[in-house]
Amino acid sequence: MTLLAVETSCDETSAAVVRDGKILSNVVSSQIALHAEYGGVVPELAAREHLKNLPPVARAALDEAKVSIIEIDAVAATQGPGLPTALLVGFKAAQAAAFALRKPFLGINHHEAHLYSPWIGDFAAFQPNLSLIVSGGHTILAFVKSELNHQVLGATIDDAAGECFDKTGKLIGLPYPAGPEMDKLAEQGNPATFGFPRPLLHDASDDFSFSGLKTSVRYFLRDHPHLLKDPQKIRDLCASIQAAIVEVLVAKTIRAAKRTGVRCVTASGGVTCNRSLREQLEQACKKNGFALRLADKNLCTDNAAMIGILAERKLLAHVSPLPLDIEINPAMALAAT
Ligand code: KG4
Ligand code: ZN
Repeated sequence: MTLLAVETSCDETSAAVVRDGKILSNVVSSQIALHAEYGGVVPELAAREHLKNLPPVARAALDEAKVSIIEIDAVAATQGPGLPTALLVGFKAAQAAAFALRKPFLGINHHEAHLYSPWIGDFAAFQPNLSLIVSGGHTILAFVKSELNHQVLGATIDDAAGECFDKTGKLIGLPYPAGPEMDKLAEQGNPATFGFPRPLLHDASDDFSFSGLKTSVRYFLRDHPHLLKDPQKIRDLCASIQAAIVEVLVAKTIRAAKRTGVRCVTASGGVTCNRSLREQLEQACKKNGFALRLADKNLCTDNAAMIGILAERKLLAHVSPLPLDIEINPAMALAAT
């Protein structure tokens, strides 16, 4: 089965061709440079860029895969959650392609695509797992009982972890998105220099909260502005903020994994590119006897291949394609299936 997939939920325009569980192409055109000037994603600009970029990106995905459009058996696109106008562009273009080709069309939940991305290329090894989805828009813990059968245990009640990286980084003066830059600077910093709060670390729920950490960094920098003049102190700040975020993510993931009785932990989403998070999860899983599967770094950030692979798994599991009058769902939740 050969699928064409499209992802335009935020600021990456992406198209991919997947076949029989393999990624034949995964073209991602990032709008980061465009939005950096505003310090965050401007939804209207993102939608206009998708409109401009999607045709050449889709063409490139087909060319790279050496697949003709008439060989496509199904089309999939991100249905939600995401920026409404950004979603509309990719979803409607993909729907129109499916209509013209008279092929099945699937609308995919963006978080669900992240959730299963650690298994891409190796679904044969799938086992029940506790999954951390950690991105710029969401931080979710899910219990995946079997393939396509998952339950959300907890989520952020305010900011996502990626948002916390981006916003605290902005306070430090780092360019958008600050997450990757903080990761780099933190490598040469001392995480024990500044003691930032670990929100909800000992809370009984599986929920997260990162807005208090962001506020704490804001007040700290207001009271200690001189720190930003010292490059080593900036590296120490990055390491200390990162340590607070990573400690909460790892501790709550391991605690939920123990409680649910799974033997495997997975992690996906943009923040899973973070070196410290990857290392700390590895160490914690080793110590507690869990197998760990991290999504490949190039599949952690938003991409259409994860949309196409999940759509293919759904078609194989006989999930019905959507009627062509279905709409986007910007607030789509990661519901139990
Ligand atoms: O999954 P993603 O591409 O988009 C959403 O669905 O939100 O995640 C983007 C987020 C941004 O907040 C970005 O700063 C963060 O992932 N990110 C990182 C790193 N790489 C990307 N955060 C920390 N360390 C990184 N290395
Ligand atoms: Zn994402």
